[in-house]
Amino acid sequence: MRAVRVHQFNLDVPMRLEEVPDPRPAAGQVLIKTGAAAINPVDVAIRQGVHPYAKLVKPPYIPGAEAAGEVLALGPGVQGFQVGQRVFGRALGGGYAGRVLLDARGAGELPARYSWAEGASITVAYGTAWNALVIKAGAGPGETVLIQGGAGGVGMAAIQLAKRLGCRVVATVSSREKADFCRGLGADETINYKAEDFAARCMELTGGRGVDVIVELAACDNFDKDLDAIRVDGRLVVVGTGTGKGPKAEFRVPGVMTKDVRVLGMAAVNLAPKMPEVLRRLGSLLSEGALKVHVDRQVRLEEANEAHDLVLSGKFLGKVVITA
Ligand SMILES: NC(=O)c1ccc[n+]([C@@H]2O[C@H](COP(=O)([O-])OP(=O)(O)OC[C@H]3O[C@@H](n4cnc5c(N)ncnc54)[C@H](OP(=O)(O)O)[C@@H]3O)[C@@H](O)[C@H]2O)c1
Repeated sequence: MRAVRVHQFNLDVPMRLEEVPDPRPAAGQVLIKTGAAAINPVDVAIRQGVHPYAKLVKPPYIPGAEAAGEVLALGPGVQGFQVGQRVFGRALGGGYAGRVLLDARGAGELPARYSWAEGASITVAYGTAWNALVIKAGAGPGETVLIQGGAGGVGMAAIQLAKRLGCRVVATVSSREKADFCRGLGADETINYKAEDFAARCMELTGGRGVDVIVELAACDNFDKDLDAIRVDGRLVVVGTGTGKGPKAEFRVPGVMTKDVRVLGMAAVNLAPKMPEVLRRLGSLLSEGALKVHVDRQVRLEEANEAHDLVLSGKFLGKVVITA
């Protein structure tokens, strides 16, 4: 099969499109013909060698944490899937290839109304947003949720899920186009963080109380100021450093203490045991067509390097995907 491979942990060394043997499904795995794979910031951070998950792979390796496609074969003991079925899910090994192995526990049926590109963009964005809002923050009706980085993959998902939970949603963006995009997904308010002081705006929007929950996708930039935007006993979910940023952030320790802020970390790898339940819950929303998945750009395997540059630039709405 054709596959894009990383040969060095260094963004200056281009990934290469190569011919490699097809993978074979082991126990608990589903082999699919890749319809599309999403490009995620984690793919870029691992390739850079700065992400903790870089320790889990050895070059040359195929990047890509999630994909959608048609089932070709099932590993021993896998139940609940059939050859020919349309599925999406967490990739084991790389999605930037003609065939990819999915973790059966982290895969689900893809309703016909969603394209391969849309299906490939569900697991990480929606699984992460669910983890942040439902499992970690326990966000509920009437609460104000600030989503830092509203127009990216996780932001797109978090806006929609927070609205479904009955929350008032405030999303931060860097442009008018991104503000319109977030409003189109259901955001009640947007703040251009480049032009305005987001913490002061959050205080204004909540009558001086502060927001109940923050879904923080760019913690290295925002952690300290989040402490001015959050209410006493609020929940600050640290989801990401920020695409291409980090790993360190400075913050005022008293800012956490004086407001009894509950800082909640999370990682996709720790969510794995809960994925069947998360997918069941997301699956019912998908079958109703209740979740919008916006794919801004679809590139070919030949364009993988440009796609990583695009993801680092932030100049896209929703998701960027790659197709074999
Ligand atoms: N912990 C986990 O399990 C988990 C899972 C998924 C993702 N993540 C991490 O979460 C982060 C976001 O992921 P993603 O897929 O949504 O990334 P993405 O698609 O690249 O979107 C990131 C968004 O953040 C915006 N942004 C950048 N700097 C910002 C700032 N200072 N304040 C507010 N917004 C800012 C970007 O737009 P502008 O540049 O135009 O502002 C962009 O729209 C990444 O760091 C990713 O690695 C973690």
